[in-house]
Amino acid sequence: MSAAQVWIVDLALSRDQIERCDRVLDAAERARADRFLRPADRARFRASHAALRLILADALGVAPANVEFAVGPGGKPELAGAARGAADFNLSHSGARALIGLARDAAIGVDVEAVRPIPDALRIAAAHFAADEVSTLARAHRNVIAHSFFGLWTRKEAVVKALGSGLSLPLDRFSVSVPPEPPRLMRAAGDASWNLSGPWSLEELDCGAAHVATVAVRSADADITRHRLADDWPDHLG
Ligand SMILES: CC(C)(COP(=O)(O)OP(=O)(O)OC[C@H]1O[C@@H](n2cnc3c(N)ncnc32)[C@H](O)[C@@H]1OP(=O)(O)O)[C@@H](O)C(=O)NCCC(=O)NCCS
Repeated sequence: MSAAQVWIVDLALSRDQIERCDRVLDAAERARADRFLRPADRARFRASHAALRLILADALGVAPANVEFAVGPGGKPELAGAARGAADFNLSHSGARALIGLARDAAIGVDVEAVRPIPDALRIAAAHFAADEVSTLARAHRNVIAHSFFGLWTRKEAVVKALGSGLSLPLDRFSVSVPPEPPRLMRAAGDASWNLSGPWSLEELDCGAAHVATVAVRSADADITRHRLADDWPDHLG
């Protein structure tokens, strides 16, 4: 059994706090932040990456500015330098909310989405998801279809993000249960490059009524604990 932590992070920070975040980011992160046109998006990117550094630094016993990153074959960010292979982690953000997953001995993926009206949910699902998922979603009542669609979306994204495959694994190559069913991996065909076989643990995360979120850990019966960074978290960046 693997132990995993998931952190919920509030990204709505003051100007002073954002400046504090900036001090721990590296040149690549600052350059990526600068590419956002809207100041609010720029601030959230800086905040989410500073929060990621804070959580990883705490786990690794280093300073936030000293955490080193690399990118895996499918684009998944991973630890580099002395901490290479020490843990797997994953980040997701939606609006002012971020989720950060951390697991020592298993791959982890997290995904959070804001639930919003989606009139073409079934068309999008039919174009991207697996046939068994689409037929279950088609039976959902119209009052809950947005919730089921985004719940399903986060389940699939969390699995894909744990794998690290990014856009290279077609989403119809595996299927997950559809809300309100509890989350689980149902069919794990994968493809020649991305193999999903073996046990998985999927859990929903409570991020408030306006969001849905899933964590996926590639291990049987993972012990997943939930945490929330305190409101003054940027003060702890050093
Ligand atoms: C990157 C990706 C995996 C997730 O993106 P998203 O859901 O738009 O955004 P999230 O906020 O949940 O996740 C973004 C974070 O995931 C991480 N990430 C990037 N590439 C990743 C990969 N290949 N695997 C795992 N994590 C990845 C990064 O930390 C990134 O944060 P950053 O951009 O601030 O550095 C997505 O672009 C993707 O490739 N999805 C493939 C599946 C798909 O098409 N899904 C559609 C509906 S199911």
